[in-house]
Amino acid sequence: MRKEAVLITGANGEIGHGLINYLGGQGNFGVIALDVQPLDDSLKPFVEKFIQGDILDGMLLGRLVAEYEIRTIYHLASILSTKAEYNPETAHRVNVEGTLNLLRLAVEQSQWQGRAVKFLYPSSIAAYGLPDLATKNSAGKIKEHNWLEPITMYGCNKLYCEHLGRYYARHYRQLAADKSSTTVDFRCIRFPGLISAITVPTGGTSDYGPEMLHHAAQGLPYDCFVRPDTRLPFMVMPDAIKSLLLLEAAPSENLKHLTYNVTSFSPTAMEFHDIVQKAFPGAAIHFKPHAARQGIVDSWPADVDDSAAREDWGWQPDYDQVRSFDEYLLPAIRERYSSGN
Ligand code: SER
Repeated sequence: MRKEAVLITGANGEIGHGLINYLGGQGNFGVIALDVQPLDDSLKPFVEKFIQGDILDGMLLGRLVAEYEIRTIYHLASILSTKAEYNPETAHRVNVEGTLNLLRLAVEQSQWQGRAVKFLYPSSIAAYGLPDLATKNSAGKIKEHNWLEPITMYGCNKLYCEHLGRYYARHYRQLAADKSSTTVDFRCIRFPGLISAITVPTGGTSDYGPEMLHHAAQGLPYDCFVRPDTRLPFMVMPDAIKSLLLLEAAPSENLKHLTYNVTSFSPTAMEFHDIVQKAFPGAAIHFKPHAARQGIVDSWPADVDDSAAREDWGWQPDYDQVRSFDEYLLPAIRERYSSGN
């Protein structure tokens, strides 16, 4: 019999770290981790099998079908918004074709198993696109179906993959005579900027928050690439992991939507700066806005409405702004850098 497993792509990334740490300790199923880079040593004890490879490699994914009974896929691998702008076509291949490959894997798995395979997909506030700053400032908390005109390749990819997920979940091969009822159980979360005490993001545009904090904690100067008045929604990593696990566990009959906003707090870059400066009084943080990256952040919402997630699957963050810094980020980051890791 094939072994029951959960597949996590982008295992080395920020969400991957948090998720593998949690799921790897559960023990009733194996964690298969996939990444293009070698797996971080800290994650190795939590993983049943690590596969170093590319999500664009169909052969590699095919072998997984034969070996494991995958009940849930967390498809985290992606090229983030800033990096994607430097090579949009490569980003499209990884973000869209990669997701298509994983969705196909989910279909094959569900056909073998005779039951739906859950597909957890992290989308982003980058799926939104507000036309100008005045609109952003007056739009209030944005609901899932509004302002969906992203200006980045990454945002376009995320929004399109949400549609692909809906297609695979509800309309896959709709004209086939043998159209089967077992399918992909697609569940998607649009994340705000995420902040972890353990890892630093690479290639994103909400990175000024986490970068400011991690630089200050290491005594390094930091030039913030957005204006002080820039506002974005953020959330700490334990809440991001909590939201994925809650959505995964939610009974399907409660889920009225395929895509849900989640959020916690929405500071300006100045508020972020003030908290970090107070915690690390020697920090040398300066504002040196980068016009193009500022333009991207100005197109993203200042806040999102996550009431659908609250109603359908009981979402609520454990960490508001004060708790995020006082009880998670600051203690964990101080510990991390004082121990020289
Ligand atoms: N954090 C991501 C980025 O900045 C947004 O989802 O690209």
